Amino acid sequence: MCGIVGYIGKQEAQQILVNGLKKLEYRGYDSAGIAVINEQGKMVIAKSKGRLANLESKLESSLEKDALKGNIGIGHTRWATHGEPSDLNSHPHTNQKNTISVVHNGIIENYLRLREWLITKGYKFYSETDTEVIPNLIDYYYENDLLDAVMKAISKLEGSYALGVVSAKEPGKIVAVRKDCPLIVGIGKDEAFIASDVPAILNYTRDIVYLENKEFVVLTSNGVDIFSLEGEKIEKEICHITWNADAAEKAGFEHFMIKEIHEQPKALRDTMTSRIVPGKSINLDNISLTKEDIEKIEKIYIVACGTAYHAGIIGKYVIEKLARIPVEVDIASEFRYRDPIINDRTLLIVISQSGETADTLAALRHAKSKGIKVLAITNVVGSSISREADDVLYTWAGPEIAVASTKAYTTQLITMYTLGLFLAQNKNTLTSEEIEAIKNDMLTLPEKAEEILKNKEVLQKFASNTYMHKDMFVLGRGIDYAVAMEGALKIKEISYIHSEAYAGGELKHGTIALIEEGTIVIALATQSDLYEKMISNVREVTTRGAKVLGFTVEGNTNIEKTVDSAIYLPKVNDILLPVLTVIPLQLLAYYISIQRGCDVDKPRNLAKSVTVE
Ligand code: F6R
Repeated sequence: MCGIVGYIGKQEAQQILVNGLKKLEYRGYDSAGIAVINEQGKMVIAKSKGRLANLESKLESSLEKDALKGNIGIGHTRWATHGEPSDLNSHPHTNQKNTISVVHNGIIENYLRLREWLITKGYKFYSETDTEVIPNLIDYYYENDLLDAVMKAISKLEGSYALGVVSAKEPGKIVAVRKDCPLIVGIGKDEAFIASDVPAILNYTRDIVYLENKEFVVLTSNGVDIFSLEGEKIEKEICHITWNADAAEKAGFEHFMIKEIHEQPKALRDTMTSRIVPGKSINLDNISLTKEDIEKIEKIYIVACGTAYHAGIIGKYVIEKLARIPVEVDIASEFRYRDPIINDRTLLIVISQSGETADTLAALRHAKSKGIKVLAITNVVGSSISREADDVLYTWAGPEIAVASTKAYTTQLITMYTLGLFLAQNKNTLTSEEIEAIKNDMLTLPEKAEEILKNKEVLQKFASNTYMHKDMFVLGRGIDYAVAMEGALKIKEISYIHSEAYAGGELKHGTIALIEEGTIVIALATQSDLYEKMISNVREVTTRGAKVLGFTVEGNTNIEKTVDSAIYLPKVNDILLPVLTVIPLQLLAYYISIQRGCDVDKPRNLAKSVTVE
């Protein structure tokens, strides 16, 4: 939710800020802006509603370009929370004298109270944003020391923030701080950066410092100094990033989403490497859960949001089946407020691609405050969730840029299987032969995913025949129902078609009333023990005129008697099929979205990383 970037050094700041914002557009894209302290020492701001391209065209005008010449600046790409997307509400925001500029990611919960208080002190407000209180509050406390003023100002803020602040009165520094929103610091030669995420500055430096909550950083062209809330200087580890910036580029694909769908075979392999090795017991990196800890577990909670929550539902099926431990899956925004029953025999698993999702982080903190162990499954090394959890299992999907999650989901599933087998191994709920058989099947998944990716014609045809429809239903039973939820989410979020997942057997308890001539139904019938039952459910809808795309495994060709077209998945242990079943669903959502002319990678109203409640 919102991306921020900052630069100080010897180069022209403008282009570096814009390049950084391009890499952060996935975090929000309804407006963008930059503030530069120019060569004359003046604070100059350019901002524009809409995509970053609008700001770029504005900057193209030579007048703006010259006015914004300078070696220090901050930039922002917005996902609106307070106030509609507009030039006025775009960041950076300034104090009235236009000497202090601020970019902000997060939400200031007490901004109305602060705003009223500042008005009594003579301050005026022009935007509808919560952010505008911050430059004014800093102005109120400013006595020729920007760091001191920022420290005083943030002591008044409630909520979440990552802030970048510049002042024309101290043109040689950027001050930044974070609380519950990501912020990293990049260190270069005679230059320094801040950013919401690593790719924004990876073309300039690979030396990164991850800030903790309420750590302040002062950036100058000579380097960075980090301070605690008490004003003491802190030494922090500098992490050297080894992954390639190209990993976050489109590599010849038309969209990030389709590129990431195609990266799944590799992502699956990478996530299994060293954990799933034939003939060797499951190796879960360095996690601290011992055999004794596992024997003590009476219940597992899996908590997450959106797609990660759907991976959690698969996790329930997998862990209960393999390790016979009861699992409850909860949406993080529900879990955190409902006083769940947890005790020292509970294990909390949180799943989050970004590792920054506010509700998931809050659920983690709630459990930790009760003394419960938390195991995190995340894709982002150094993210808040990875740092706060007791144990972390990384998914090695590589950077996921498209807003719609694809490779993160399938690698989360792989991690769930790995964990399920690890628990089973420790609880002796499966024999070593049974574990070995599942492992061997898991190792075939990347190749089978590659096979699926070669056959897209049926999906493209189905998409072009159905993209004008208003509703779609995705049916499944058992673990297929969990995959149906993810399929329905993919369709709705990138094509804006109302799509709903239903458990096959539940349809006739009300929702079947919506089925009429021509209604589109996608029926997942991959599970051998539920196949006949699912076919009966399909007949219930075809009898009422539904047009059905059926999914099943190779060999079940008799499905064609019941459905209009069929997708065949390679055979593998039933429990592993979701990894394969979801791929044609992702492709289908993609093709429908393209047919409808939607912006696949940046669907409306969404942002990649939801760091606010
Ligand atoms: C959907 C999607 C979202 C995320 C959700 C959680 O395609 O991407 O539903 O899964 O916002 O995000 P993370 O996994 O970063 O916690």
